[in-house]
Amino acid sequence: DGLDERLSEILAAHQGLEGPLLPILHAVQAEWGHVPQASVPLIAKALNLSRAEVHGVVSFYHDFREAPVGTHVLRLCRAEACQAQGGAGIAELVKDRLGVDWHETTANGRVTLEPVYCLGLCACGPAAMIDETVCGGLTRERTLALLEELGA
Ligand code: FES
Repeated sequence: DGLDERLSEILAAHQGLEGPLLPILHAVQAEWGHVPQASVPLIAKALNLSRAEVHGVVSFYHDFREAPVGTHVLRLCRAEACQAQGGAGIAELVKDRLGVDWHETTANGRVTLEPVYCLGLCACGPAAMIDETVCGGLTRERTLALLEELGA
């Protein structure tokens, strides 16, 4: 299918490189927005690696996604100033409400949760970024309202 064909091209383009795995994974993610499960055995075979080795690299680097990204990306600030203003509690609330951990996407595909380290809103934390919009002063109430708006 389309994946096989495009993936063969990507593999062919990178196979001669020294240390081809990371560039291949970046190209795969650029193509599909994540590293599809189905691509792992093919990449492993082409590079003479085990599936576990390829999978290990995909899960080690948080640049790589193992599933498609959600409709919205919610980034919660985990840096010091926000933590001092209750950021950890907000993060727990969000994880609990969404049923996800960092880097995961809700079952309905609406929201992907990512950590971020300072958004320049340190004076009014806890801060977050929803897609391209930053917002500060996250109380529990505001956070819950926000999640509702995102359809999480
Ligand atoms: Fe969170 Fe700076 S520490 S915005």
